[in-house]
Amino acid sequence: MSNEDDQHLQVSKIQDGTVIDHIRAGQALKVLGILGIDGTNDEQVTVGMNVSSDRHGRKDIVKIEGRELSQDEVDVLSVIAPNATINIVRNYEVAEKRRVDRPEVVEGVLSCPNPNCITANDEPVSSRFEVLDDGMRCRYCEQIVSEDIPSLIDPE
Ligand code: CTP
Ligand code: ZN
Repeated sequence: MSNEDDQHLQVSKIQDGTVIDHIRAGQALKVLGILGIDGTNDEQVTVGMNVSSDRHGRKDIVKIEGRELSQDEVDVLSVIAPNATINIVRNYEVAEKRRVDRPEVVEGVLSCPNPNCITANDEPVSSRFEVLDDGMRCRYCEQIVSEDIPSLIDPE
């Protein structure tokens, strides 16, 4: 049983929605950015950062009430959170666990860190990265991004 279930409960259970669990510690804000969650709509979101985990020492966790992530959203998440588990919760129970599959291409979600890249210069070109085994390659400038994921496009 997870230590979130006993007296160490750190983040409340949700009724219906999605729990993104086992996010590498420090990555929760990137997960929120990828999902376009910036607190400006009515979504109820709980974020736990550096909570203790029985599997890894520390993890981040994101709980979104009232929203079930689509498989596309789950796939894009895999780029920054390959070890995350996605739990769809219905009526307080985990109804489905979605697998995280690395996509081959990520479009329009991440921004290229190369300041000279055409996608970084207000051109009406959406970003496009090819996902490699150990990083991503910008389709426009060929910049390779590994380990450090590029900053997220502002969800504006
Ligand atoms: N959870 C939640 N609200 C619910 C049900 C579950 O927030 N109503 C959270 C749990 O706290 C846990 C995650 O969803 O962080 C997955 O739940 P569960 O599958 O019950 O836990 P584990 O078996 O520990 O998960 P795993 O398969 O990842 O080990
Ligand atoms: Zn580029």
